[in-house]
Amino acid sequence: MATTESVSLMDKIVSLAKRRGFVFPSSEIYGGLANSYEYGPLGVELKKNIQDEWWNAFVRQRSDMVGLDSSIILHPKVWEASGHVAGFADAMVDCKNCKTRMRADHLIEEYFESKGEKVSVEGKSPAELERLIKDNKIPCPVCSKHDWTPVRKFNLLFETNIGIVPEAQSKVYLRGETAQGIFVSFKNILDSTRLSLPFGVGQLGKVFRNEITKGNFIFRTLEFEQGEIEYFFDPAVDDWQKLFESWKKNIWEFATNNLNVRAENLRWREHSDEERSFYSKRTEDLEYKFPFGFKELWGLAYRTDYDLQQHTKYSGIDLSYLDPVSGRKFIPHVIEPSVGINRLMAMVMLDSYREEGDRVVLQLKPGLAPYKAAVFPLLANKPQLVEVAQGIYRDLKKEMTVAWDDRGNIGKRYYAQDEIGTPYCVTVDFDSLENKDVTVRDRDTMKQDRVPIKELSRYIKEAVRPNSLH
Ligand code: GAP
Repeated sequence: MATTESVSLMDKIVSLAKRRGFVFPSSEIYGGLANSYEYGPLGVELKKNIQDEWWNAFVRQRSDMVGLDSSIILHPKVWEASGHVAGFADAMVDCKNCKTRMRADHLIEEYFESKGEKVSVEGKSPAELERLIKDNKIPCPVCSKHDWTPVRKFNLLFETNIGIVPEAQSKVYLRGETAQGIFVSFKNILDSTRLSLPFGVGQLGKVFRNEITKGNFIFRTLEFEQGEIEYFFDPAVDDWQKLFESWKKNIWEFATNNLNVRAENLRWREHSDEERSFYSKRTEDLEYKFPFGFKELWGLAYRTDYDLQQHTKYSGIDLSYLDPVSGRKFIPHVIEPSVGINRLMAMVMLDSYREEGDRVVLQLKPGLAPYKAAVFPLLANKPQLVEVAQGIYRDLKKEMTVAWDDRGNIGKRYYAQDEIGTPYCVTVDFDSLENKDVTVRDRDTMKQDRVPIKELSRYIKEAVRPNSLH
């Protein structure tokens, strides 16, 4: 159960996100669209910085990884082969009285949670979920009536059509995960590179899911950025357990080090036999302690050779790998780390939020901050100060994201930057005109340093480099 304190933390983040331009409700002037958000001027920077961190750490800096950017709309057979058309579905139930539609597993879990009890719904069939709802007379959380439709499976793939002539229209899907793009390009990647096993392919991109239940802020949305890796290996040579453990370590280090998230708010949870997909030998989720409980942040699954086998079968193209040394031909096995960047962003904002008296600080890792520095003239009505400050602002802007502020007193300007996580504030005062130096104030220690103007860029850049480039 969420505590009052944690619920209000979520409210504070949602309010800060809107007020300062991180995240807005989608299409708000038309009354909004459920489970959709826009990323504002600061949100787009924070999200991009997290994506860059992911890309640098997992693709660019590893010699066993390459990247890919596949299409959002793939051949519809891809989704038949992957099993998404038949099985990518949530069990849903509708209240006959007020028409509220809910995921049956969420309805049951929330009902038992509200009574302080726990129930396992993992791997349960629609019929089993329906029985649990009936036997426990679970009421609708909106109208309190107990009058539900049967539990039905509802596919999460968004459908659309290609072509303008109706007869020639063909049904296609918006991708429900980036992973399948990697599998269908596997042969082209092999043929166009000199990669040998083990190696991985990473992809970042938008995916779409027809999520019906109301999400928590940007935790569960209709569209989101996924970061996925398919790590291919030879099961006769590489020990999958060791590879699995090494990916667990990489993911943990990324969360705690690159994103600076507190380790006590993270935990691994292994999927039970019922919950795991039938083709997976082991699946674990890294969970973060969100205000609404520990929830999945990052999935890690050993998917065996299932996907490449399926695409071999459905396409008729052999997706085997030919070992250059032994001459053996086989379908590689795969370990898949998969994460939602938007979920990482929600976590980073929640985890870095601090209140110190009347000061609110987003203690973001400096490299992730939307602005690396803010430049202020001490007084806006003194042209000599404004001119020097503008020069510094323009020079810094060539190398990093920088904010400009000349309104209000300096204390207020500091607080406004603290709230959005800007690591350094640079003030040009009258001494600056004489001594060619500025005051640099640190967000976390609030200490002030005098720094020569010509050394300013190096001073800031050294401290705010992305972690993955240190
Ligand atoms: N290829 C495997 C796969 O897609 P998943 O558990 O469905 O696995 C992976 O999704 C990750 O994507 C999740 O751990 C979560 O971070 C993110 N994710 C899934 N659904 C999401 C949604 N509706 N909104 C935001 N992020 C989502």
